[in-house]
Amino acid sequence: MPEEFADLRGRRDVVAEPAARPETIEADALVVFLTEGGVGTGACGAVDRATGGLLARLVAAGEISGKRFECVPLLAPPGVRAAQALVVGLGRREDLDAGTLHRAAATAARMLAGRPRARVALVADDTWTVRQLEQAVAGAVAGMVGQDLYRAEKKRTRFGTTIWVAAAPDAVARGSAIGAGVNLARRLVNTSPDDIYPQTFAEEAAAVAGRTGMEIEIWDEERLARERCRAILAVGRGSHRPPRLVILRHRGPGAADGPPGLALVGKGVTFDSGGLSLKPSESMLTMKCDMAGAAAVLGAAATIATLALPVHLVAAVGLVENMTGPAAYKLGDVITARSGTTIEVHNTDAEGRIVLADVLDVVRELKPRRIIDAATLTGACMVALGHDVAGLFTNDQPLCDALAAAARAVGEPVWQLPMYADYDDQIASEVADIKNVGDGRWGGAITAAKFLERFVGGIPWTHVDIAGPAFAEKPRPWIDGGGTGSMVRAFVEFARGS
Ligand code: BES
Ligand code: MN
Ligand code: ZN
Repeated sequence: MPEEFADLRGRRDVVAEPAARPETIEADALVVFLTEGGVGTGACGAVDRATGGLLARLVAAGEISGKRFECVPLLAPPGVRAAQALVVGLGRREDLDAGTLHRAAATAARMLAGRPRARVALVADDTWTVRQLEQAVAGAVAGMVGQDLYRAEKKRTRFGTTIWVAAAPDAVARGSAIGAGVNLARRLVNTSPDDIYPQTFAEEAAAVAGRTGMEIEIWDEERLARERCRAILAVGRGSHRPPRLVILRHRGPGAADGPPGLALVGKGVTFDSGGLSLKPSESMLTMKCDMAGAAAVLGAAATIATLALPVHLVAAVGLVENMTGPAAYKLGDVITARSGTTIEVHNTDAEGRIVLADVLDVVRELKPRRIIDAATLTGACMVALGHDVAGLFTNDQPLCDALAAAARAVGEPVWQLPMYADYDDQIASEVADIKNVGDGRWGGAITAAKFLERFVGGIPWTHVDIAGPAFAEKPRPWIDGGGTGSMVRAFVEFARGS
């Protein structure tokens, strides 16, 4: 059951100490952030003075550089009550942004969480913006949680208490709620696909909704049939675990009456075997990550509700397991989606777009002002943009620009791909309105987006393909491998700005 949003109602293990002098804080470790220019006159300079100029001497001697994410532990430093100081590099001062601070704080937290620690203090600098502080706090929350769900011997232990020496306690609280959303998404992705399937994902969503005060509706297979969600049901037929559709709602204080201002939609394929168009083993191994879009939407919605953002938000996720059971949908099948559009199935491994066809139609009926979906939709998007960058596709340039700005403001890299009308010809079918793959594999991320566009009914919409960034096969200095929580921070930031 979810632990992430338990902290926010009651247990508070991330606290702010706005007035404290860092050297007076009793802690297992004191994290100090250093830019390449030297200790300077800010927070780092203050700790340096308390230690009698130790940091400045180490910088002058070239022992500490301040390069991005460099971590140098100083054990039993003089003049400081903490048992160690961990000096973390931020790179050049003029390049400093929220994304760098997020990773730097995460790197420090990940390193320190390698063994149990009761109290860890981090020293923010007064020159950081509120956004930068929030993202640093979120980074530290994510960094101390690893991939230990099924390990007897844990590799990371959450700090008993994280203390931020920072002038803005509200920003610390917000950062911790953002980090909780990221960790929720990561945990759902990292959970074994035998434990997270449509029904259990929906149960997690219900628990999160209860904790964060969101309304929730869960459509089971009977309701899905009554609602004519034949596309979702078709993909789900190969599994003995029936599909679900979950709709969450947050009516923020001061949000305008009437239809939702924002709809978030997520692909929740809890395991993608490829169906009868079976994936080879190597490609199938990580396909528990195929619900990362739904996890990002749930994590972002939970944070948005916790922060009581003034937005009327609807979040909808389509949950299915794509398997090969005796009733599995077949190549050549023609499915009539909820919207009435008919889909000829050319490849059962292009299942995400079929699921989203119905989820988008359900959301379209609610007439939201804007729709954003997140999906681990195509390997082709990884061919185009690599592992770390999400693809953006839109029918509305201002919406796409606003989402890209929000993502970049929090350090989540995104890049837009084109949606020329000519691509539409590639999903034309000989027997139905559309087919579920393009002609050949070139431009596969775009033809997939073009397919989705058919179901948004002209509402301003942006699709985010997170096949690359949602899942890290190897650990990075700032995060353990596995689910990354991709787009949670970007979606929260977008919801704030709108
Ligand atoms: N879930 C996959 C896409 C994916 C691939 C996500 C790698 C994360 C990492 C999706 O359902 C899929 O299988 N897409 C096919 C589409 C093709 C059959 C047109 C693909 O990308 O190969
Ligand atoms: Mn697939
Ligand atoms: Zn898939």
